Amino acid sequence: MRIDIISIFPPLLAGVFEHSIIKRVRDRGIVDIQVHDLRDYTTDRHRTVDDYPYGGGAGMVMKPEPWFRAVESLRMQGSAGRAILLTPQGQQLNQRVVQRLASEDRLIILCGRYEGVDERVAERLVDEEISIGDYVLSGGEPAAVVLVDAIVRLQPGALGSSESIVEETFMEGLLEYPQYTRPPEFRGWRVPDILLSGDHGAVDEWRRQRQIERTRERRPDLWAKLSNSDDDVIETTT
Ligand code: ADE
Repeated sequence: MRIDIISIFPPLLAGVFEHSIIKRVRDRGIVDIQVHDLRDYTTDRHRTVDDYPYGGGAGMVMKPEPWFRAVESLRMQGSAGRAILLTPQGQQLNQRVVQRLASEDRLIILCGRYEGVDERVAERLVDEEISIGDYVLSGGEPAAVVLVDAIVRLQPGALGSSESIVEETFMEGLLEYPQYTRPPEFRGWRVPDILLSGDHGAVDEWRRQRQIERTRERRPDLWAKLSNSDDDVIETTT
């Protein structure tokens, strides 16, 4: 998979993809991540990327031309890819969206800045707009890190064991069960006996119940979605 990220602050993105799983995946050639400076696609001496908003108002708006030039020139190298603008106006990211994007062969991620990006970029250049949540960042860069991390770890060969993906939070709409490791007692707090019992069936059942309990208590919104589907997750509890 290839991921191109376009930003006016490439240094914000420089170090983050050089550690942990993302680094391993890059080193193995599973994902090729390239960061590009939007200013390299300007044509004026000042490398201008923004201008005053038509209709007035505070702040600046990012000009369309550098974005079109950048995406169009990147698309001349390799496949067209799916272009994504990161903005609080976009569809909210969740694991389903991550899975869908993880199966693309190429993504071109546009990190907006300032008060906004000329609407023609959203309407005519990108394939979709994505938000990572209902809060406003000063730019799309932290959102790009979130998006890339979530996508990269789903690439075949990224994780050590395939199980760690299969059992994961949100895959089936439930939160994860609580995890413990040694020591069995720490400051008087004991690990639940059942986890030490060696009874795998009982452990599985205990974990399932904890998942259900947590999801109900902490994420009634997720729980309601499951209750409305005909998923058999629920049938064991009702
Ligand atoms: N840019 C600014 N805020 C953002 C958000 N919440 N998600 C994606 N991009 C953004």
